[in-house]
Amino acid sequence: MLSIVIPTYNELENVELVAQVIGNTLSQKTAYEIVFVDDSRDDTPNILSSLAARDPHIRFVHRDHERGLGTAVVQGFRIARGDYVAVMDADMQHPPEMLLAMLDELNAGAEIVIPSRFVPGGDDGGLKPHRKLVSAVARYMGKALLKRVRRINDPTGGFFAFRRNVIEGVELKPIGWKILIEILVRGNYSRVTEIPYRFQPRNAGVSKMSLAEQWNYIRHLLRLASESPQDRRFFLFAAVGVSGVFMNMVCYDLMVRLHVEVAVASVIASLIALASNFTLNDRVTWSDVRGSGWLVRAWKYFATSLVGIGINVGVLSLLFYKFSVHYLIANLMGIIVATFWNYALSRLWTWRS
Ligand code: GDD
Ligand code: MN
Repeated sequence: MLSIVIPTYNELENVELVAQVIGNTLSQKTAYEIVFVDDSRDDTPNILSSLAARDPHIRFVHRDHERGLGTAVVQGFRIARGDYVAVMDADMQHPPEMLLAMLDELNAGAEIVIPSRFVPGGDDGGLKPHRKLVSAVARYMGKALLKRVRRINDPTGGFFAFRRNVIEGVELKPIGWKILIEILVRGNYSRVTEIPYRFQPRNAGVSKMSLAEQWNYIRHLLRLASESPQDRRFFLFAAVGVSGVFMNMVCYDLMVRLHVEVAVASVIASLIALASNFTLNDRVTWSDVRGSGWLVRAWKYFATSLVGIGINVGVLSLLFYKFSVHYLIANLMGIIVATFWNYALSRLWTWRS
């Protein structure tokens, strides 16, 4: 059986239509149920309860004291009875006809199926231009931070399906909206398929996306990066790097106030920051790896970082002198490239595990 979980918040003009189109699409093809998880403050729950009374395929829960798309969907998973589970929005932006293609992919062995706006044949016409930009930034942030999200073209949508055992025994605790990312990072699976679809304009009513949800998304990404085994190390490494910048600044400032020559203070501050970064990475980021003696590790870390400084300056100079990129942005790019270098060498050489 296929369970379709639909979160709803004030969707009174949409729920009847979406239930009807899903019914038309699936009734001859497969056993199914629609599980609405509703947090509405308008008349939607009344409409849902009369729909559920008329049609045995339709179930719904209403939450009085809770709001939030992600937790609503998780609640839907708990009561869904199908061995296949799909999630979609109530406002017809996700064409219910796609459910058939998704079902085919699951039957063919896929464990997670994602209708995608960003594979050939897909289209995200349903978004206004400024939302497209926000959406692209959100997408690339997720890919940059989370390894299991990196190979997915459309990880930030709310339309997907999966086999129930992908989330069996997995504790899902999304913050905000992006429940698919939560499943991609924490789930048990190896086969993901993306199939193109055209994201549609909303049927009726308004979007509930807000600035608060965008902030929630960033918190969600950071939590996943710090908790998932495959991203934890890089997250810690980057956090240590940031702490090193502060360390450098504080020491530098202190010495300059004590009348140490600026250039000398800068070199000493850099060395102190390097030592502090090494210690933190050795004790925290790679606390589980102890091959060679610490002096050897310290030496390797130091050598790697020296080359890293060279890479930073190289990238910066190229961008600044040759391509007239703003000097701060050029430096930031240099830092980012050098961080990846430092991380790669730290992982493969200094703290080889
Ligand atoms: N239960 C519940 N609680 N449902 C909610 C809540 C909530 O707090 N907030 C929103 N929903 C429901 C809406 O009623 C709708 O069915 C669905 O979640 C998506 O909300 P929309 O307001 O329509 O979102 P959108 O169209 O702006 O964004 C959609 O498309 C984006 C594509 O980039 C969502 O699917 C996003 O997840 C997606 O990223
Ligand atoms: Mn929508």
